[in-house]
Amino acid sequence: MERVASKEEVRQAVLAARREDKRIALVPTMGMLHEGHLSLVRAACGRADYIAVSIFVNPTQFGPGEDFETYPRDLERDMELLRAEGVDLVFTPTPAEMYAGDAHVTVAPGPLGELWEGAVRPGHFAGVCTVVCKLLNIVQPNLAFFGEKDFQQLVIIKRMVRDLDLSVRVESCPIIREPDGLALSSRNAYLSVDERRAATVLYRALRTAETLALGGESGAAVLAEAMRECIADEPLAALDYAAVVDPATLGPIGALDASARAIVAARLGSTRLIDNMQITRGA
Ligand code: PAF
Repeated sequence: MERVASKEEVRQAVLAARREDKRIALVPTMGMLHEGHLSLVRAACGRADYIAVSIFVNPTQFGPGEDFETYPRDLERDMELLRAEGVDLVFTPTPAEMYAGDAHVTVAPGPLGELWEGAVRPGHFAGVCTVVCKLLNIVQPNLAFFGEKDFQQLVIIKRMVRDLDLSVRVESCPIIREPDGLALSSRNAYLSVDERRAATVLYRALRTAETLALGGESGAAVLAEAMRECIADEPLAALDYAAVVDPATLGPIGALDASARAIVAARLGSTRLIDNMQITRGA
């Protein structure tokens, strides 16, 4: 496994792999890898011959007062995990390598970037789109892998790839959960023991909506209200939003169609967690 920090080294390494007719996959990450990231790497290994993973805590997707400086980092451990998975290339650029000091051109996510996470974190998806677009341009993979945990991010990246005619296939992988349902996230490391226990409320809220829908409830507002009530019952959790949305437009729906996405965000102390689940209406 090779670790490189410059764009030029990535281009050379990928070029050599391409000359050998290898199918290239990219798994973009911000490091502090967990089983969720590793599931993306494993999916990539099953679909491509040359696996590149980027580890870059991207400053442009963090807002003022967010956790850019304190975001958990453990490069040595990440490298060990990736070596064990048989990854070929790890790209670990510095912010200065990624962004020219006078860089001003960015990728605008459009209206989808203003909903939900975008409303709470202005500029977040412009930062995500810009860095993902740059990583795709640097690596030029055939396939790029993203987790469903960040569902809005996934939808926006798929749109970006379509709307900008980027030559890559976006693949998504299901959320990986702890045995008690908490979705894996690098930010779970911030939770105190009590907050960690309370954090399962996001999953419980989603399951409540799922169960109601499977029982025949089709009103998206009813499902959303049930999720809100569930979060309100947990004293350590403060709700940001709970909704049942169209999985393509992320916009509100009146009644459940073939499938919809329940989305939820809540704060446990100073830690903000998000989660989501596909919701299907029962007979
Ligand atoms: O999901 C993440 O970890 C990040 O948003 C990504 C896609 C690596 C871009 O920085």
